Amino acid sequence: MEIIHVSAECYPMAKAGGLGDVVGALPKYQCKLGHFSKVVMPMYRTRFLYQNEWVTDFKGRAQMGNWWFDYTVIREKHDKLGFPLYVVDINGLLDRDRIYGYADDTERFTAFQIAVVDWINHWQHKPDVIHCHDYHAGLIPFILKNSYYYNRLADIPTVMTIHNAQYQGWMGWDKGNLLPVWDITKGGLLEWGGVINPLAAGIKNAWKVTTVSWSYLEELRYNSNGLEALFEYEKGKCVGVLNGIDNEVWDPMNDPFIEVQYDIDDVEEGKRDNKTRICREFGLDPQYPLIAFIGRLVGEKAADILPDAIVSSLYGLEGKVNFLVLGSGEPHIEWQLSQMKPHFPGNYNVEIGYNEALSHQLYAGADFLLMPSRVEPCGLNQMYSMRYGTVPMVRSTGGLKDTVTDMGDEGGWGIRFNNATVGDVVYSVNRALELFGNTERLNNMRRHMMQIDHSWEHSVQQYIDIYQRLKY
Ligand code: ADP
Ligand code: GLC
Repeated sequence: MEIIHVSAECYPMAKAGGLGDVVGALPKYQCKLGHFSKVVMPMYRTRFLYQNEWVTDFKGRAQMGNWWFDYTVIREKHDKLGFPLYVVDINGLLDRDRIYGYADDTERFTAFQIAVVDWINHWQHKPDVIHCHDYHAGLIPFILKNSYYYNRLADIPTVMTIHNAQYQGWMGWDKGNLLPVWDITKGGLLEWGGVINPLAAGIKNAWKVTTVSWSYLEELRYNSNGLEALFEYEKGKCVGVLNGIDNEVWDPMNDPFIEVQYDIDDVEEGKRDNKTRICREFGLDPQYPLIAFIGRLVGEKAADILPDAIVSSLYGLEGKVNFLVLGSGEPHIEWQLSQMKPHFPGNYNVEIGYNEALSHQLYAGADFLLMPSRVEPCGLNQMYSMRYGTVPMVRSTGGLKDTVTDMGDEGGWGIRFNNATVGDVVYSVNRALELFGNTERLNNMRRHMMQIDHSWEHSVQQYIDIYQRLKY
């Protein structure tokens, strides 16, 4: 089958979070199964862009509102990622340093989607499926079905994957003029809550909708930032497919970012050496357990409770534990976490920012990985941590619930808690400390987790089955 993934992120070209990881891996595993899977994304000014060779695939001209714009689709020449990667350049609009966060993001991602549709419209053939990821690609199923200009493409099946329903891309009705001329009786297919809602439009117009874990699909029906009734209404069209991880990129045996590589057989020594290095770098005491947090410092990840939870744990346990935070996000959380630093020398440190290499070093060097998320559609961190023998401490929600069990249950591993509260986190830190004191149990758990198969091989076939069942 020929599958085109449309996404705002794709690792290593551009990644702000798990979306980039998924879109950088899923097509590779689809290609390994013999399918022709490719990715098209916006062109940003990233290191990957400058360090690789590109060939021009297509130059076109499309219309957004009253504005005709030129776009160029270039392709990474050597298919280094294991699948063809195409990036769309629209002068002045997409080629920026950051992925998101500009005042004209609505125009940027709308123009990107129009360019993608226009590009496909110039092909001699039609792809078997267009797979849209999150709201940045959510208008495509609507455009294909309802715009007069592109109606040749109306019968191409579309799949919409929801990685995160918190972000929906809301825009006013005035922006409806940006879309290629469409049947105005179909405005309802763009609308949710009185405005144009690209994520809702994706759900309404796509042929099939998927979420990145089973539990998240259930949760969306009562907690989806305003879309609850829509998920209830469209439940027959939605299915949960658990994300996998790219075992080639995330492999403690072959990870170029970590100092000491290790496997199940030498996990104890391997983790100890990596921990010693990290602790030296961040001024922490390696004899105590190291609990890491890696991620966006936002309410969704419950990063706002980290300062209190860390302070309470450090006082309560008289400094017999270490915390290291890597992340960036809301300024007030960044500020609080930074301010705490001088108060707990030897037990606490934080790196504000995005640091891919350090994240790998932390998965390898930490003893525990804390994820108190309020919302977690899937979560990849806990799967990476397990692959590196690091015990996840997670709130029982979404994909965390689907991938981590509790060590208190028979055959269980990991630490689970129910609430994103300081009390629950402190309690789980106490449990972590207890486990750390039982070296044999800890090492058995590490070995067990490293053998759990979270690879894409499982889920990739489920997507293919979904594509094949789409009716023309
Ligand atoms: P989300 O996409 O909601 O942020 P996921 O768990 O799906 O959460 O994926 C997060 C990805 O981003 C992981 O690969 C994680 O290692 C990475 N990541 C998050 N924050 C940082 C950071 N500050 N530095 C490096 N990597 C980060
Ligand atoms: C989103 C979600 C995260 C998920 C990722 C990849 O960013 O917040 O939970 O793992 O997408 O699907």
